[in-house]
Amino acid sequence: NEIKLFAPATIANVSCGFDILGLCLDSVGDEMIIRQVSEPGVTISKISGQDLPLDPQKNVAGVAALSMLEHLNTNVGFEIEIEKKIKPGSGIGSSAASAAGAVFGINELLGKPYTQTELIFFAMQGEKLASGSAHADNVAPAIMGGFTMVTSYDPLQVTKINPPKELYATVIHPQIEVKTADSRSVLKQNVSLKTMVQQMGNFGGLISGLYTEDYNLIARSLHDEIIEPHRSILIPEFDRVKEACLNNGALGSGISGSGPSIFALSRGEETAQKVAAGMQQVYQGVQVDFDIHISKI
Ligand code: HSE
Repeated sequence: NEIKLFAPATIANVSCGFDILGLCLDSVGDEMIIRQVSEPGVTISKISGQDLPLDPQKNVAGVAALSMLEHLNTNVGFEIEIEKKIKPGSGIGSSAASAAGAVFGINELLGKPYTQTELIFFAMQGEKLASGSAHADNVAPAIMGGFTMVTSYDPLQVTKINPPKELYATVIHPQIEVKTADSRSVLKQNVSLKTMVQQMGNFGGLISGLYTEDYNLIARSLHDEIIEPHRSILIPEFDRVKEACLNNGALGSGISGSGPSIFALSRGEETAQKVAAGMQQVYQGVQVDFDIHISKI
C-alpha cells in the first residue's frame, strides 16, 4: 500500500496577504513516496536532492505526519521517501511542500479520514518546526490548490479561491538562503492605523479582483505597505527586479513568502515570459545565480 505524489511549491503572502493568502505553483515541487508499514510510527527512509535530517522529530514531513498519527491513535506506521526539488530557504514553501505532502499522502492511504482543513492543521505543525510559527499560507494552497485565504487561525478556517483563467506566476530565486525565522525577526510588531487602512484596501481589492477576474483591480491591489519594506533589504536587487517586472507588463510583483524569491503575476503566458526575461536580465547583469519558473495558477 503506497502512494507517489507531487508536493507543489507555493507563494505565500502574495504581497498584501501576510500569513493569510497563498497560491499553488504547478511547475515546481517535491516528489514523495509514502508507504504504509506494519511497524507503528514514522520513518523517513530516504531524502535525495538536499541534505536534511532523517530523524522524523527533526524533519518537517516527519513532525507533520507524527502529529496526524498521534491524533489518529493508530498502530499502523508510514515510511516516507522525499526527492527534494524545492530548495530550503528559497521562499517558495519548501518545508510546506514536504509537510503537506506527508499528511496528504497518509490521508489517501488511510481512505481519507480527514478533511482538507484538518490536513492543513497537521501540516502546520511541520511549519512550526521549520520557522517557529505555525502559519498556513503555504500548506493551505499546497493541499487545496489555486489561491487560498486563511480567514481564521483559531479555529482554523480556510477558503479556496479559484484563480482567474489567464493568471500566470513568474518566480525568480536568487541562489541565497533566507531562513523564514530570520526574515520574520526583522518585522515590526505594530502598524499604524493609516498603514492598516491601505493594506486592507489592497487586500480587499485583490480578493475582489480574483473573484471577478478583474485584472486591473488585481494590478492596483498588489502592494504591500507593511512587510516588503523591511524584508526587501535581504534580497539582492529587489527594487530593480520588481521594476523590470512592471516594465514588462506584470500586474504586480513582490517577495514570495519570506524571500529571497521574487514573484510576479501576469495576465497571459506571453507576458509571464517577457517578465521572466526582464527578471533574468537584472541578475545576469550583476552576476547573481538564479532559478526561474513560470506557472499557470
Ligand atoms: N507568511 C509567511 C512569512 C510565509 O511571510 O513569514 C513563509 O513562507
